[in-house]
Amino acid sequence: MTQTSRTSRPYLGFGLGLRADHYDAILGERPAVDWFEIISENYMVRGGKPLHYLDRIGALYPLVMHGVSLSIGSSDPLNQGYLRELKVLAERVQPRWISDHLCWTGVAGKNLHDLMPLPYTEEAVQHVAARVRQVQDHLGRQILLENVSSYVTYTQSAMSEWEFLTAVCDAADCLILLDVNNIYVSSYNHEFDPREYLHGVPKERVRQFHLAGHTNNGNIIVDTHDHPIIGGVWQLYAEAVRIFGPVSTMIERDANIPPLAELLDELERARQIAAPILAEAAA
Ligand SMILES: [Fe+2]
Repeated sequence: MTQTSRTSRPYLGFGLGLRADHYDAILGERPAVDWFEIISENYMVRGGKPLHYLDRIGALYPLVMHGVSLSIGSSDPLNQGYLRELKVLAERVQPRWISDHLCWTGVAGKNLHDLMPLPYTEEAVQHVAARVRQVQDHLGRQILLENVSSYVTYTQSAMSEWEFLTAVCDAADCLILLDVNNIYVSSYNHEFDPREYLHGVPKERVRQFHLAGHTNNGNIIVDTHDHPIIGGVWQLYAEAVRIFGPVSTMIERDANIPPLAELLDELERARQIAAPILAEAAA
């Protein structure tokens, strides 16, 4: 059931990414997951197995929609066909909210199949914010933008990543999906303080957290979503809960997907970390 936090932020509790590997286990076992996040593009189809399962699982659990193709930062025009399909899917799913990434995924009609960061400039702020407003007008609701993990920076950048995220969301009046693992990954790759990032994000705009595992290659961390969450990310999550309070939290696993029980154990760890912090704050 949807609860409301003290900041009147909708609060769903602890969720998982919905993956096809777990469809039957979810329907058979009805696991104690508070909600599921779907990858929007996986359900932009006319029928078949994905929609069959989506409807059945959506009847049992709250859902949110998470996209990977909006390319909000690109200089190409917004893909109107994609936006139409997104709205059709939203009408079917009735998600609690819709998110995508603060990035660009292609230019000049070419898809890079990667979530590329933007130069952190005022020009980019205005460019992205105008496009977010178009998307929000089309969908008739605010969207959430997620911070991506990154492996490159731009010499043109005139502000920090968190200042850029804040400026875009203020200018567009949109919300934030804060990926704690991505902050950890990017802070390692670009040598900044992840706690400074957390403290630099406007509390009132954060509606969801992502947690995930990654691959540390020594000189660089790659955001692979194919391992359990590491200790450093759990520590950063605890700090995020201290700063932001109750925020709907979910675990992303996209490769090397384990049995559902393993992810439920990982989700339980998130609950165990958050519970005493939230109880202390409430007291
Ligand atoms: Fe994420």
